[in-house]
Amino acid sequence: MCGIVGYVGEKQAQAVVIEGLRRLEYRGYDSAGIALVDGGAVAWQKRAGKLANLEKAIVDEPLALSTTGIGHTRWATHGAPNDANAHPHLGRGGRLALVHNGIIENFVELRTGLENAGHELASETDTEVAAHLLELELDAGADLTTAMQRVCCRLEGAFTLVAIDATDPSRVVAARRNSPLVVGLGEGENFLGSDVAAFIEHTREALELGQDQVVTITREGVSVTGFDGSPSEGRRYHVDWDLSAAEKDGHDWFMRKEIYEQPRAVADSLLGRRTPSGALQLDEMRLSDEELRDIDKIIIIACGTSFYAGMVAKYAIEHWTRIPVEVELASEFRYRDPILNASTLVVAISQSGETADTLQAIRHARLQRSRVLAICNTNGSTIPRESDAVIYTHAGPEIGVASTKGFLTQLVACYLLALYLAQVKGTRFGDEITEVMDQLDSMPAHIQTVLDDEAVYALAREHVGTRSVLFLGRHAGYPVALEGALKLKELAYLHAEGFAAGELKHGPIALVEDRLPVLCVVPPQGRDQLRDKMLSGIQEVRARGARTICLVEEGDESIEPYADVLVRLPKVPVLLQPLVAVVPLQLFACELATALGHDVDQPRNLAKSVTVE
Ligand code: AGP
Repeated sequence: MCGIVGYVGEKQAQAVVIEGLRRLEYRGYDSAGIALVDGGAVAWQKRAGKLANLEKAIVDEPLALSTTGIGHTRWATHGAPNDANAHPHLGRGGRLALVHNGIIENFVELRTGLENAGHELASETDTEVAAHLLELELDAGADLTTAMQRVCCRLEGAFTLVAIDATDPSRVVAARRNSPLVVGLGEGENFLGSDVAAFIEHTREALELGQDQVVTITREGVSVTGFDGSPSEGRRYHVDWDLSAAEKDGHDWFMRKEIYEQPRAVADSLLGRRTPSGALQLDEMRLSDEELRDIDKIIIIACGTSFYAGMVAKYAIEHWTRIPVEVELASEFRYRDPILNASTLVVAISQSGETADTLQAIRHARLQRSRVLAICNTNGSTIPRESDAVIYTHAGPEIGVASTKGFLTQLVACYLLALYLAQVKGTRFGDEITEVMDQLDSMPAHIQTVLDDEAVYALAREHVGTRSVLFLGRHAGYPVALEGALKLKELAYLHAEGFAAGELKHGPIALVEDRLPVLCVVPPQGRDQLRDKMLSGIQEVRARGARTICLVEEGDESIEPYADVLVRLPKVPVLLQPLVAVVPLQLFACELATALGHDVDQPRNLAKSVTVE
């Protein structure tokens, strides 16, 4: 997720673009850059790090007086967060400048074609490939709008592209597929932004764009076409948010915004994971198939929510690869004198990539000659830097302290790792792996279905004043119960505890009393033995007065007689059910905390990244 700004009008573009980037910096802060049309040339500057680094560079070397420009704040996906990979990227002749948000899935084959034609690319990014392709079209005589249409027809994946042509100061041209872009409509000026925060101080008139559209903005107006050049249009609307709401896309909290971003985050984390032949590819794996085939034990280490993602991963990895998996709290790992060797793969899961407990644990593992693979959402952070391999999630920056999209995209990365190991070790046939990948590709829509059912909001508000809540789950639903309890602890500051449902009768059932809320994650149909045992647990607590709130697969009527409240889940395979089952629990915690008047984004006593042991 990056921040993008485009401007053409009567004002100095540099000031408008820089201010717009400042409003969008929450979308990404690995690097920042700007490009202006300057009398037949492109004046540009870019710097790794926060926007302030770019601003300092511009003060040191003023750019140009120009009324046409683009800018970018980066959240790194492909390529480390450094100056070379920062946007904008230029074409071979420096005539075209481009900024980009998203992932171009087929950039490797496009890059190979360019290099075979003699192009030299200075960065590791997919964006630079698109910049070279666009400039080739300009050099062939196309205008920027036509060039954008032609190149977009060759790209696969999710992308927002915004470009300028040094020889044509009259326009900025952009395109979008599965990635945000909105137009700001002014008088004698027009704007482009990843969201309305980029231009809300200049205009509240906006144009929403559809899928696969190219938009050209000039001082005089805005025109929209399809990728094929056919006339099209956007939907005009008035923005009545203030700036703070605009940064949260109209939501009250970043956390709530991030919960609703989960379908996109999951889809982005799945992009580019399959070769044209359908085989799995993990581009930063850096461990050979031979090394992976040598793995005979996996130890997953993590903290908090990431630890619960690791617990889900255990079920998937063991089922698909038959490799034994241990899941260990990072803060406990090195003190238990773990048994490690070169055939042990240590998997470190961390959204921030900076958690001290996890970092110290992987350092210990490497001293024991184990190979370390990181699953991380922050490109270039310490944990992936000190690991042998990494699978990056593509959730975009997670601002809310309570992790949500970070968790779901960690699950996706864990499933990908499990399937990749199964592919390498041959423990699953190719068609079996393809079947699961196809199921994963359908998960964003299932998650959206859960998000569309807002009944959980009223349910949460009913629990204002509740002092204790229990969460029950079995199999892959057990880590979901633990995560649901953690969300409630973190946000509503009340006693919440997750249990393996089968464990209840061994003591915790003594906690059950009249009207105690118990949220139960019910396994999907088809796993009847598992469901029957879950049903027993629900009956046990209900018989003792509990208020049972059951998360149940649609069409499963067997639970109804024992549920005080039913929350319906889409039909998905048992190993993938955490991707949908956790979402109502996230919404429940967020809404109850809001009703209690808590600061949901900055809960008391917590930090987004715990960099102390
Ligand atoms: C989750 O909501 C919490 N913010 C916390 O448990 C977090 O998951 C944990 O600190 C691990 O952080 P990491 O994923 O950045 O390593």
